[in-house]
Amino acid sequence: MLNLLLVGANGHMGQRVQTLAKENFNLFTFDIVGDANFSSFDQINEKIDVVLDFSSPRGTSQVVNFCKSNLVPLVSAVTGHNEDERKELEGLSKYVAVLHSGNFSTGINVINKILKTLTKDLIDYDVEIIESHHNLKKDVPSGTCKMFVNTIKSQRDLKETYRDETSGKREKDEIGIHSIRGGSVVGEHSVLFLGNDEIIEIKHTALSKNVFVPMALKVCEWIVNKEKRLYSLSEYLLDENSL
Ligand SMILES: NC(=O)c1ccc[n+]([C@@H]2O[C@H](COP(=O)([O-])OP(=O)(O)OC[C@H]3O[C@@H](n4cnc5c(N)ncnc54)[C@H](O)[C@@H]3O)[C@@H](O)[C@H]2O)c1
Repeated sequence: MLNLLLVGANGHMGQRVQTLAKENFNLFTFDIVGDANFSSFDQINEKIDVVLDFSSPRGTSQVVNFCKSNLVPLVSAVTGHNEDERKELEGLSKYVAVLHSGNFSTGINVINKILKTLTKDLIDYDVEIIESHHNLKKDVPSGTCKMFVNTIKSQRDLKETYRDETSGKREKDEIGIHSIRGGSVVGEHSVLFLGNDEIIEIKHTALSKNVFVPMALKVCEWIVNKEKRLYSLSEYLLDENSL
């Protein structure tokens, strides 16, 4: 069994990963709060085969340093990275295999795939995205929303906008983004293509945080034998014929 280091092990996601990971991995837990095997990377003497990060973007530097020093591949599920943190992940991929995804649910990745076709085919339609999450979520817009925006922008020359009272009339080249925060919403994403006299809406609702865990763990098994570089989740899905 592979030795998996789970960073952010005591968080909402980490606890769910702990439950499922024990079946297929020797699990080592890491968190700076609460009980865990480790609360500092200096404490780790075990040989770790793969790191799964479900903590916070502010922990990325330390995770990257550990993976770089010990040549351990990294699966990062963290969202809300700033430019420097994104560059650190990219830099790490010169030494080990790295995969980052803001959403490990199958449904969201199917939607991301079909969005390419929809964006190309619905060429004159206005595109808007509405995303809703629980009131504890720190980053905005969601990592999934950013992923959708990148996919749409790969097909059409559009720019994201966050409308407010200064915005005025909608421009043709906008992707309007609307973020709702409240209650215990796990995650909802709607992509709307608005045309004359019709609306096409693609909507995904995550009913439980468990939806993100199985694929994240499968990617951990997949990445251990991969060459050093940055991987996308689409590459994993193509490789596994999952979608
Ligand atoms: N990629 C996906 O599919 C997906 C799905 C859900 C959530 N997420 C992301 O996963 C992350 C965690 O989400 P959550 O809901 O579990 O959050 P959470 O706040 O409940 O848990 C985060 C945990 O990380 C720990 N932590 C914070 N900084 C740390 C550091 N520097 N080193 C080690 N541990 C640290 C905290 O103590 C906490 O236990 C967020 O970025 C969230 O957006 C990703």
